[in-house]
Amino acid sequence: MSPKSDIAALYAQHQDILQQRTAEALQRGGFEHLVVPSGTLHYQVFDDRDYPYAVNPQFKAWVPLTRNPGSWLVATPGQRPKMIYLQPFDYWHAVPEAPNGYWTEHFDIVVIRTPEEAQQHLPRDPARCAILGEPQGTLGAFAPNNPPAVIAYLEYQRAYKTAYEVAMMREASRIGARAHRAAERAFRAGASEFGIHLVYCQAALQDANDLPYNNIVALNEHGAVLHYTDRDRLPPKDSRSFLIDAGASFHGYACDITRTYARDAAGEFQALVDAVDGAQQAMCAQVRAGFDYRQLHLDAHLALARILNDFRLINVSAEVAVETGVSGAFFPHGIGHGIGLQVHDVAGFAQSDRGGTIPKPPGHPYLRLTRTLEAGMAVTIEPGLYFIDMLLEELKDKGLGPSVNWERVAAFKPFGGIRIEDDVVCTDGDPLNLTREQFAALG
Ligand code: GLY
Ligand code: MN
Ligand code: MN
Repeated sequence: MSPKSDIAALYAQHQDILQQRTAEALQRGGFEHLVVPSGTLHYQVFDDRDYPYAVNPQFKAWVPLTRNPGSWLVATPGQRPKMIYLQPFDYWHAVPEAPNGYWTEHFDIVVIRTPEEAQQHLPRDPARCAILGEPQGTLGAFAPNNPPAVIAYLEYQRAYKTAYEVAMMREASRIGARAHRAAERAFRAGASEFGIHLVYCQAALQDANDLPYNNIVALNEHGAVLHYTDRDRLPPKDSRSFLIDAGASFHGYACDITRTYARDAAGEFQALVDAVDGAQQAMCAQVRAGFDYRQLHLDAHLALARILNDFRLINVSAEVAVETGVSGAFFPHGIGHGIGLQVHDVAGFAQSDRGGTIPKPPGHPYLRLTRTLEAGMAVTIEPGLYFIDMLLEELKDKGLGPSVNWERVAAFKPFGGIRIEDDVVCTDGDPLNLTREQFAALG
């Protein structure tokens, strides 16, 4: 990572941008203050056991604090923002340390000892506040009102990452790439899915609740389950293939990385992985300002259908496979999504910062991003090919059975599936692939 002074300078610039965005958002909503609670703990029903705390993303957009329930941010245009920082007296739990780090000099900080104390430091009139948070975050008269005009503006603009945010995502990617390497080694050593997951967490120095999403660690046929999170405790007799979709967090920012490996470097599954990898890199090169992400998704179908055809998995041309929906049975998810503070970042369909929706292409219900790419946007590019019984059977039901080479499908089925996923930042020039950059740095 850059030296501390660089991060401090990047953060200062990030803060300026947040202030500008906040002023505009408040003006649009007719409010004077932005008030953002960090969030509260949630409890399991009929139990005193809490769920893992998840910070309000609108809060961590301002500060690298992800473990501070009960704190509040107040931003008023023309004034230094205020951080109402809860540091309870509590001998049952570890309490947050005193505020420290590069963000503190930009805030007026008030340390409180109980959640209720926050109220006396909030603006006088709640009616003048845009309060962004969860319903249970109500404190006295301060009930989150989540004004749509304010949220639409902030979330739309959040797609354009500041240089600080790209630096945070680069660091998350560095951690993720390192952990992926460790996981690959564990796979090659014959570890179980559960064992590989533990190796991953150890290498990332992140517990499951620190990770930006639930790790997908899938051996063999499990690679065909898109969100497989079961993790067998014992290794299979024969580990043929390994699909790992696992991320890492840094100061509230996510990376989202998928790799697929074959045990047999000379086998056909490895060749299929290589083909998807090559196509994926060509897709990443399309992450350019002005390019419609929907088109990227549609082009991906054609590219993947060409691979299906090259590997004789289908009996029809790539074009016919796309037109008839055969490609969709092998690639049944979107090409990717925005990423940043949330692994599936917000406002993927937003038409403008005043609202509106850009529709998904007909027949592609799982695409999560329909915006045109612009400099600063960070997206994932994650094509895949899977051998999913349910979807292949549906093709038969639709009379499309003859389009598929079932013998070849049967040969590949024991390997489950393939996904390759990178996080790519759109710039004014060449795309910045944070994932490849960090794998390359590992040598
Ligand atoms: N790991 C979740 C996703 O790739 O979208
Ligand atoms: Mn993803
Ligand atoms: Mn992923």
